[in-house]
Amino acid sequence: MLSSWSVMCLWILLTSIPLFTSAKSEKERALELMKDSPLIDGHNDLPLKITIHYRNNLSRVDLYNINEAATDISRLKTGHVQTQMFAVYVLCGAQGKDAVRLTLEQIDLVKRMCNKAQDLELVKSYDDLISSSMKHKIACLISIEGGHSIDSSLAVLRMFYDLGVRSMSLTHNCNTPWAEAATDLYNVFQRENNSLTQFGKAVVEEMNRLGMIVDLSHSSWETASATLKHSRAPVIFSHSSSHSICNHKRNVPDWLLRELKKKNGLIMVNLYSKFISCGKEANISDVADHFDHIRKIIGAKSIGIGGDFDGADSFPQGLKDVSKYPALIEELLKRNWSKEDLSGVLRENFLRVFKEVENVRDSSTKQTPSEEQIPPKEIHNSCRLDLENPIIPVVRSSTSGARFIVPSLPLISSLLVLYSLFMNK
Ligand SMILES: *[C@@H]1O[C@H](CO)[C@@H](O)[C@H](O)[C@H]1NC(C)=O
Ligand SMILES: *[C@@H]1O[C@H](CO)[C@@H](O)[C@H](O)[C@H]1NC(C)=O
Ligand SMILES: *[C@@H]1O[C@H](CO)[C@@H](O)[C@H](O)[C@H]1NC(C)=O
Ligand SMILES: *[C@@H]1O[C@H](CO)[C@@H](O)[C@H](O)[C@H]1NC(C)=O
Ligand SMILES: [Zn+2]
Repeated sequence: MLSSWSVMCLWILLTSIPLFTSAKSEKERALELMKDSPLIDGHNDLPLKITIHYRNNLSRVDLYNINEAATDISRLKTGHVQTQMFAVYVLCGAQGKDAVRLTLEQIDLVKRMCNKAQDLELVKSYDDLISSSMKHKIACLISIEGGHSIDSSLAVLRMFYDLGVRSMSLTHNCNTPWAEAATDLYNVFQRENNSLTQFGKAVVEEMNRLGMIVDLSHSSWETASATLKHSRAPVIFSHSSSHSICNHKRNVPDWLLRELKKKNGLIMVNLYSKFISCGKEANISDVADHFDHIRKIIGAKSIGIGGDFDGADSFPQGLKDVSKYPALIEELLKRNWSKEDLSGVLRENFLRVFKEVENVRDSSTKQTPSEEQIPPKEIHNSCRLDLENPIIPVVRSSTSGARFIVPSLPLISSLLVLYSLFMNK
């Protein structure tokens, strides 16, 4: 029979085992790490989802719980996301048409969204971001996805900056008159050489002067390389992965990674299955292979995360929405990534780039706003008013036969399907 003494000893022994074995699980360590270094994520298309499902009517949206999306405030909190770059994106089909209006509407949407919810806050600077983090808010950064949004006008670029836009990718899936896209889904402005034209260089210079981050995701490698040579500030790939691991054109080859590192830039790894495994399915281990490879080539200080949630249609097992980021950090811990490497990946690396971009802005105060204009022959767009030869269109009254096409509901929904089809492929 056990004495009460020995029972007590046994009890002490048993209860103290966890103390001695002390090794916290990687899961606990991942959560702890993310509490100290909450994520700054490079790319998210929630605004697009709100356009598709709610036509930007925010009064119908519960931002804490959005069934149709992989992103909402509750899940951002669970995922320890502290800053989200929200893409304002308009279809390439709007290029040369109403891209500027549509972009303004998406900027307006992000602003309304980030004003509406207590837990969100629009930020426009490094200092804003840090202070919103102290207040335990989720910071919203506005990022334009696709240079067609500025309709080849530096004045428009500047006005977008004034509205709070702090980053822009030079292209989406279509070439612009001044930069080249990674994919040739659209047959516009095809070119062989000159992947960043003189006007394209002026765009990059103006972004440097303003303090807007140049984003090379979606650009062709040639355009990316030319931009890296031309930019005075570090640049980012906000949502691209490693081409050596999955040879998709949207991913970044090793030689380009090396150029990126020379410029102190950042690649924020995209989680879209198609860019991770080159297939429909992927798992967290496949994602970690991208991180391992990129670290091997250029080191952990040049890496971040740009999930691309709500901008693509399939994500790896266990990483299906923004609440799952800790599982990725857990996997990297299991692969011996250090705490320091990971706090860099989660936020410090981005903060470094953002600060350097602002430093370049601050050192450019002697530079005046650029008055460079694109040569009209490079845009050949009949929708533009020819200022030297303006033609006033004749508007016929409805009685004299002008027609308005009223789109039917099925037409609207097929448009929405089309919209989602061309989101990010
Ligand atoms: C927007 O949503 C609100 C709330 O459901 C609704 O009352 C309103 O009619 C909607 N507006 C439009 C233009 O659909
Ligand atoms: C592209 O550049 C190459 C070499 O720099 C040149 O030979 C060729 O003519 C150029 N092609 C076009 C379409 O400009
Ligand atoms: C992840 O998927 C790859 C194939 O893409 C497979 O080889 C590997 O075993 C999977 N790993 C896990 C942990 O499921
Ligand atoms: C991680 O590091 C430990 C100790 O240095 C080593 O035993 C283990 O094999 C490493 N694991 C991996 C996946 O590299
Ligand atoms: Zn994209």
